[in-house]
Amino acid sequence: MNSRASVHECAPKTQALFLVGFMGAGKSSVGELLGQRLGWPFEDLDLRIQQRDGRSIEQIFAESGESYFRRVEHEALREVVEELGSAPRVVALGGGAFAQPENIQLLKSAGVSTVFLDGSVDELFERCQEQGRSRPLRSDIELFRKLYDARRNHYMSASIRVDTSGKNVARVASEVVEALGL
Ligand code: S3P
Repeated sequence: MNSRASVHECAPKTQALFLVGFMGAGKSSVGELLGQRLGWPFEDLDLRIQQRDGRSIEQIFAESGESYFRRVEHEALREVVEELGSAPRVVALGGGAFAQPENIQLLKSAGVSTVFLDGSVDELFERCQEQGRSRPLRSDIELFRKLYDARRNHYMSASIRVDTSGKNVARVASEVVEALGL
């Protein structure tokens, strides 16, 4: 049985795709390209959180702490799921969202496809550095690796895993489309 056949057997009814994985995996860039290719609207959950809260992610962490951020993140995700109708959509989650059991449960009950964009920790760390965007939970490589290791089992519960190591955004997007038979 090939991987495409096994995905089809448990294909979700809602045509929505949620990209999950660690910081630097390319969830937003791959999501944007997937949205263009499939003709589906793309949304970045972190942007919704910032709009709802009126503060940047960095400010939320600095002023209100991580547990507050996780509550707002969960509410924003619940809102996105409630808005899902029959219209398809691509959503990129922040790196910690799919490491929270209540979010995993929410997405599983919604019956949507979840795609774990993986990569080597060194490459993920490098990509974050190149992007230059401030990330509250990215400090030194050792802590970065520990956090990745602690989250990996959660990420592995996604519908499929796509390795992004050494690949550009276009190739990763093509592999997602192929793996899900879209
Ligand atoms: C986080 C990752 C960030 C953002 C927040 C927390 C995490 O998103 O949601 O800083 O816990 O890994 P990216 O994965 O887009 O960097």
